[in-house]
Amino acid sequence: MLTFSATTEAIELDSPALFPASAAQDRMKPNSINLADNLEFLSGVRDDSVNLIYIDPPFNTGAKQSMTSLKTVRDEDGDRTGFGGNRYRTERGGNKSYGDSFDDYLGFLAPRLEEAQRTLAQNGSLFLHVDQHESHYCKILLDQIFGRNSFMNEIIWAYDYGGRSKRKWPSKHDTIFWYAKSPDNYTFNYDDIDRIPYMAPGLVGKDKAARGKTPTDVWWQTIVPTNGKERTGYPTQKPLAILERIVKVHSNPGELVMDFFAGSGTTGVAAAKHDRQFVLVDANPEAVQIAAKRLTEYSPECIGFTPELQLV
Ligand SMILES: C[S@@+](CC[C@H](N)C(=O)[O-])C[C@H]1O[C@@H](n2cnc3c(N)ncnc32)[C@H](O)[C@@H]1O
Repeated sequence: MLTFSATTEAIELDSPALFPASAAQDRMKPNSINLADNLEFLSGVRDDSVNLIYIDPPFNTGAKQSMTSLKTVRDEDGDRTGFGGNRYRTERGGNKSYGDSFDDYLGFLAPRLEEAQRTLAQNGSLFLHVDQHESHYCKILLDQIFGRNSFMNEIIWAYDYGGRSKRKWPSKHDTIFWYAKSPDNYTFNYDDIDRIPYMAPGLVGKDKAARGKTPTDVWWQTIVPTNGKERTGYPTQKPLAILERIVKVHSNPGELVMDFFAGSGTTGVAAAKHDRQFVLVDANPEAVQIAAKRLTEYSPECIGFTPELQLV
């Protein structure tokens, strides 16, 4: 049995049986989804071998993250009317959850970030996605592990959804830190950046307005719509558009993109869509099932579990 270090919300795996230590060097399979504790997995990944790492660890909110998925089903007696006047009913799906509470968050994260730094290629980059509960501590930790010179950007993902506090400014952003393994040798495909509209197009002339402008380090992007096609039902699923921007600008076709807090597999989908290879790792059996379903068309190798493709 495996547990997070010093955690109150442990994910339990029969990991030793699935991943014997002797198999360590064989674990890194391109286009694979791995059910594993990420620290144990990373110990089997070679130095300097990954071009891009994006991770979105649990945020230490102290809460158990969960969500009950809803789906609409055609039903003549249903209570909702949809496209073409058809009647639908709403069905509750399974409850998907994982623990998001650690007694020692930085103690949990530090060895995983050290492994990220070790396994990144010399021109590789790490993107760490966090929120306001821990971001300030994480930046200091990253400075210690990567070196202050390796800090490239603090990206603010700004969204606009959900309730608004009347007692303080509503918190509507996450932070994504970009660290390059070598600050003078990294991938930044400027021409592959999706351009955004000017706020005052009338002030910049027709041609410039038509071309749009380069986004800054503040990225406005709506959350994954609660009832849209992109929604998997996995709690804290991140928008594909954010990951597509990171993958296109910070890696090249054919290169290896890894996410070892993979959740529903958003990073893998972005990588596969843009002809990169992906390696996804998550310790939650529900997460890897969802990722496998999302990535079916790319025939991922599923390691440590058997995909049940009928799962919603
Ligand atoms: C915030 S979610 C990631 C969501 C993901 N970015 C997405 O778009 O769906 C964090 C994930 O980390 C996983 N996780 C937590 N501890 C882990 C560990 N020790 N090893 C591997 N995965 C872990 C959880 O199961 C959860 O799926």
